[in-house]
Amino acid sequence: MILPRLALAAALAAAHLTAWSAPLVIKYSHVVADQTPKGQAALKFKELAEKALPGKVEVQVFPNSQLFGDGKEMEALLLGDVQIIAPSLAKFGKYTPKLQVFDLPFLFDDIAAVDRFQDSPKGLELLDSMKKKGIKGLGYLHNGMKELSANKPLRTPADAKGLKFRIQSSDVLEAQFKAVGGNPQKLAFAEVYQALQTGVVDGTENPWSNIYTKKFHEVQKYIMESDHGVLDYMVIANAAWWDKLPADVRTALNKAMVESIKFGNKVAFDEAAAYRQKVVDDKKAEVLKLSKDELAQWRAAMKPVWKKFESEIGKDVIDAALSANQN
Ligand code: LMR
Repeated sequence: MILPRLALAAALAAAHLTAWSAPLVIKYSHVVADQTPKGQAALKFKELAEKALPGKVEVQVFPNSQLFGDGKEMEALLLGDVQIIAPSLAKFGKYTPKLQVFDLPFLFDDIAAVDRFQDSPKGLELLDSMKKKGIKGLGYLHNGMKELSANKPLRTPADAKGLKFRIQSSDVLEAQFKAVGGNPQKLAFAEVYQALQTGVVDGTENPWSNIYTKKFHEVQKYIMESDHGVLDYMVIANAAWWDKLPADVRTALNKAMVESIKFGNKVAFDEAAAYRQKVVDDKKAEVLKLSKDELAQWRAAMKPVWKKFESEIGKDVIDAALSANQN
C-alpha cells in the first residue's frame, strides 16, 4: 500500500529532521546554591555555550542536589545521565588517590597558592589523572579556604576531642579529624544542615559561601577562622561523550568552560570576604579569630596526616603543591 509507505517515509524524514535540528541537551548538575562560585560558573557556562552555539545546544543547570546529590552524581556521569558535574576535589578518592593532595590540612597558605599549584605542570597533569576511568577533567574551579565550625569554641585541637564532625567523602579528611581526637562521619552535602540541626554531628568544615548559602551558621554556635584547608572543584565530563562531540562543538564548549571557570574564580576571590561578613552580620554564630599560636597547634596536630598519605599521593605532587606557597 502506497499510503502507509509514504506515511512511514514522512515519519522517518521528520524523525531525521528532529534528530538533526534538536539541540544537544547538556545537563550540568551540582550540589550547592546558585549564588556560590560554582553555581555562578555553571550559569555562566550555560549563557556562553548557548550564545556560542545558538540552537545547537541547550544547557540545563541543576543546583542544590536537585538532580543528583553526592554519591550518585559520579555514577550518573559515567552512565551518561548527566554530562557535566563539578565535585569537590575531596570526592575523587575512589577514582584517583592523587587528588587527595588538595585535602591535606595546612598545605596551602591561601587560595592564591592553590591557584598557582593548579596552574603548574603538576597541577595540570592531575586534570588527566582519571582518564582511564572515563573521566575528562575540564578545569579546576575555586570555592575557598575552609573554616571549622561547632557548637563550642574550638581554639585548640584539644577542644575537638570527642566531637562528631561531618566530612566530605575523603579518607584524608577522616584522618585529619581523627588526628585531633574527633569522630568524623562522611555525609552527603544535602544532609549537612539537618545533621547539624539535629545533633547527628557536632561540627563541620566549609568555606564561607557554603556556610552562608546553606545556613550552617544558623545551626552552629561558633565558626573558627581556621583556613586550614581548601575546598575547590574539578569540572568534569564523561570522557566518551566529550570525545564524540563534533570538533567544532567541543571547541566552542571548551572555550565557554574556560571562560565560565574564570568567572566562577573571580566570584570566589571577590566574594569570600563578603560571605564572611554576611555570616558575622547575621549574628547567629560567633566568628572566632584564632591566634598564631592556636593555629600552630592545629597545624602541628594535623600535619602527620601528610606522611600517612604521601605514598598514595606521591611526594612529587606534595612537593609541587608546597612550592606554590610564597611564604
Ligand atoms: C561539601 O560536600 O561540603 C562540598 O563539597 C559541597 C560543594 O560542592 O561545595
